[in-house]
Amino acid sequence: PKPIWVTRHGESEFNVRELIGGDSSLSSRGVAYARRLGAYMDKHYPPGTPLTVWTSTLRRTQQTASFLKFHRPIAWRNLDEIDAGICDGRTYEWIAKHMPKEYEARKNDKYRYRYPQGESYQDLAQRLEPIMLELERIDTPILIIAHQAILRVILGYLHDKDPQQCPSLSVPLHTLTQVTPKAYGVEEVRISL
Ligand code: F6P
Repeated sequence: PKPIWVTRHGESEFNVRELIGGDSSLSSRGVAYARRLGAYMDKHYPPGTPLTVWTSTLRRTQQTASFLKFHRPIAWRNLDEIDAGICDGRTYEWIAKHMPKEYEARKNDKYRYRYPQGESYQDLAQRLEPIMLELERIDTPILIIAHQAILRVILGYLHDKDPQQCPSLSVPLHTLTQVTPKAYGVEEVRISL
C-alpha cells in the first residue's frame, strides 16, 4: 500500500496575524518550511520515482509546493480551506466579542456548526468524498498540501474516526505526516521539519 503524506501549507501571513481564512502568501518562516519540505520530498522521491502532489487552489498551498523540483502539483478546489463565510478575515477573539452567539454555537457543536454564508465540518466531509475516492484509486505515493480543517477531515477518514472527533484533531504547522494503510488500520508517523 502506498504512503500518503500530508502537510498544512507553511505559515502564512494570516496565520501570523491569527486571521481566519483568506488567501494570503507565506510568511518568511512559511517559505523556509516550504524549502525544507521540497528538499525532503525530492530526496525521497528523486526523478523517475512516481509521486502525486495535490494542493488546494489557494496561494499558500501552491507556494508551499513550489520548491519541489521533480513533481508538478495538481490543484483541487475541493482541498480549499473551510469557508468561514462572514467570519473570513476575522480573529477568533473578534468573533467572540462581536458575534458571541456564533462563537458559542460553534463551540457547542463544532462539527455541525455552519458559518453564515460558509461551511461546517460536516459540509467538508461531503466536499472531500471525491478526494477520498481518488485517494483510494491512485496507486502512487501521494503528497497532499492543504489546510488545518481539511486535513482534520482527511486524517479522520484515514483513521476511521467518528466524524464528530475530527474538529479537535491536532494538525500543527510545519509537520509532515506520513500515513500508511496496513492490514489492520493505518500507521502514522509525524516528522517535524
Ligand atoms: O487558522 C488557520 C485555519 O486554517 C483557518 O483558515 C480556518 O478557518 C481554521 O484554521 C480551521 O480551524 P478551526 O476549525 O479550529 O477554526
